[in-house]
Amino acid sequence: MSTSSFSLNDGTSIPALGFGTGTALMKQDAVDPTKTALRTGFTHFDTAQMYRTEDQLAAALADCGVPREKLYVTTKVAELKEGETVKDALQESLSKLKLDYVDLYLVHAPMHFSGRMKEVWKEMEAVKREGLTRSIGVSNFEIQDFEEFLSEATIKPAVNQIEFHPYVLGAFESLLEYSNKHGIRLESYGVLAPITREPGGPLDPVLSSVRTRLEQTWGKPVTEGQVLFKWCLQKGVVVVTTSSKEDRMKEYLAVLDMPDLTPEEMAEIDAAGRKKDRGDPELFGRYKQYVQLVRSRETNAQG
Ligand SMILES: NC(=O)c1ccc[n+]([C@@H]2O[C@H](COP(=O)([O-])OP(=O)(O)OC[C@H]3O[C@@H](n4cnc5c(N)ncnc54)[C@H](OP(=O)(O)O)[C@@H]3O)[C@@H](O)[C@H]2O)c1
Repeated sequence: MSTSSFSLNDGTSIPALGFGTGTALMKQDAVDPTKTALRTGFTHFDTAQMYRTEDQLAAALADCGVPREKLYVTTKVAELKEGETVKDALQESLSKLKLDYVDLYLVHAPMHFSGRMKEVWKEMEAVKREGLTRSIGVSNFEIQDFEEFLSEATIKPAVNQIEFHPYVLGAFESLLEYSNKHGIRLESYGVLAPITREPGGPLDPVLSSVRTRLEQTWGKPVTEGQVLFKWCLQKGVVVVTTSSKEDRMKEYLAVLDMPDLTPEEMAEIDAAGRKKDRGDPELFGRYKQYVQLVRSRETNAQG
């Protein structure tokens, strides 16, 4: 069975499964799905300055009855206006979240701070020291992005939140090695891509046969999505997912009680994942498309 939390390099720990308010819920009504996620048993919530869902997360958490210390809240910085510091941005996020501190504060992507990461990371370290966040980390960072600031960092990033599933394994081999070497915990988004956005690939028959074997062993229904989550957790990678449906949320959380994949099944999934050439020109090309989409929606809304 999977651990329900993972340790981070700064002595804190992070719940293994998180509920995201970006992607599908971004700029929509995230309050009701988030309340449902809370009721279902999620305690780890992921938002970002860019998602415009921090205030909705606050509304969902208000009067939820779960003590603050039992909740785990992540937000991210993507934009600093002229003259604004990381602390200013975090204070604005905290005010929207109606919290005194977050558990994890991430630099959303290197593209927002190109050539400025040394200075931005110093400011990230300062907000951690001041107690405005328990942990600091990054998202969508490749090795060259770490190299820009890591040698001068006094606090290492605790996590790197990236798109992670078997179809990125080939491309991410050296990033995984680098993260291990520096004790940076990987946190995933898009784990379900092989069945939601990229079905029909070499993983399909493998996921189906592992699912059938697990159903027989466990004696309960198992989905391909649960197999992907389990694969991720067994690699020590935190899963951040989302859903608009209560049944799906329960299905996600049940993964923590599901029996483990065997070493052979893990290896079979790795091998099938590596077979697919996704043809991405860049590792985080999809993130860049996503930022363009957010910006164009905002421009249209203003115009
Ligand atoms: N740091 C970053 O740059 C970044 C980028 C992207 C995302 N994120 C974070 O990660 C969170 C999750 O991201 P994600 O959406 O990529 O996660 P995901 O876990 O890959 O996908 C979740 C989505 O898949 C749908 N789904 C689940 N099972 C399905 C099935 N069997 N068939 C069809 N659809 C199915 C769910 O829709 P239903 O409502 O139908 O269940 C939900 O919208 C986001 O909310 C955000 O917080 C971070």
